Amino acid sequence: MELKGKKLVFVGAGNMAEALVRGILKVDLIGKENLLVTDVNPKRLEFFDKALGVKGISDNKQAVLLSDIIILSVKPQMMANILGEISGVVQPGQKVISIAAGITTEFIESKLAKEIPVIRVMPNTPALIGHGMAGICAGKYAQDEDMELVGVIFEAVGKVVVVKEEQMDAVTALSGCGPAYIFTIVEVLTAAGISLGLPEEISLPLAIETVEGAAKMLKETNEGPSILRNKVTSPGGATMAALNVLEEKGFREIFIQAVTVAAKRSKELSIIN
Ligand SMILES: NC(=O)c1ccc[n+]([C@@H]2O[C@H](COP(=O)([O-])OP(=O)(O)OC[C@H]3O[C@@H](n4cnc5c(N)ncnc54)[C@H](OP(=O)(O)O)[C@@H]3O)[C@@H](O)[C@H]2O)c1
Repeated sequence: MELKGKKLVFVGAGNMAEALVRGILKVDLIGKENLLVTDVNPKRLEFFDKALGVKGISDNKQAVLLSDIIILSVKPQMMANILGEISGVVQPGQKVISIAAGITTEFIESKLAKEIPVIRVMPNTPALIGHGMAGICAGKYAQDEDMELVGVIFEAVGKVVVVKEEQMDAVTALSGCGPAYIFTIVEVLTAAGISLGLPEEISLPLAIETVEGAAKMLKETNEGPSILRNKVTSPGGATMAALNVLEEKGFREIFIQAVTVAAKRSKELSIIN
């Protein structure tokens, strides 16, 4: 999919917009002359200009008029205002992409009035370092080529899966919130190491490298998690003793319950919007 020459605006020049702009520039998907950001905060516009060479303006309407692809990257609670502001100028030839958690394509379509292709994306924070995982789903006017275009943009900062909109709450609960679960696991492993007598400066890297190494094994060996776990777990050994405690204490049920609650909360938030 050729994106060169297309003009792309980020409405909201925050963390996610920055991650995406960095990724897009790194893989040279679109030149900086064809990128534009908007923000209410002049410091963010100045930052994009100075650090990334990407121009910014504060007028969302004007920015949309100048663009082929519009990525809405403001907080969910700002979306209704932004859509009200730009609805009069968005045209069916343009694509509207939203990364706002919980905001449905139906909600966006209803505010835009015209039949605009809308695609919803749930990225995650590892996108900041090019290792994101995004779920994307199509609104009712989005075509296959629009989904392909969005796939190409988000592959600049990681990987992409196409899902149905009703699966977006599950994606949010799993990969959207997921980095926080893994950070918690690292925190807990580090604390356990400290309680066993290791200094933090040793315990923390042990935990971090273990998570990274395990994730890389999962990707590179193509063996599933249970096979890899069994390979580390000798009968009567230390790993088995630890896993037995996790099973007895209901670790699996607790984790599934936690992710289920996250999906429920994500759904509730989208109803509020
Ligand atoms: N960060 C994540 O892990 C993550 C993951 C998945 C999805 N998302 C979604 O990504 C979106 C952006 O998240 P983020 O973390 O990048 O947020 P953020 O850093 O707060 O970025 C939003 C930016 O938009 C600006 N803004 C506010 N009102 C505006 C307006 N009317 N016009 C133009 N810009 C305006 C904000 O300025 P002020 O700060 O001055 O208000 C801020 O600089 C959210 O909807 C979030 O749900 C984020």
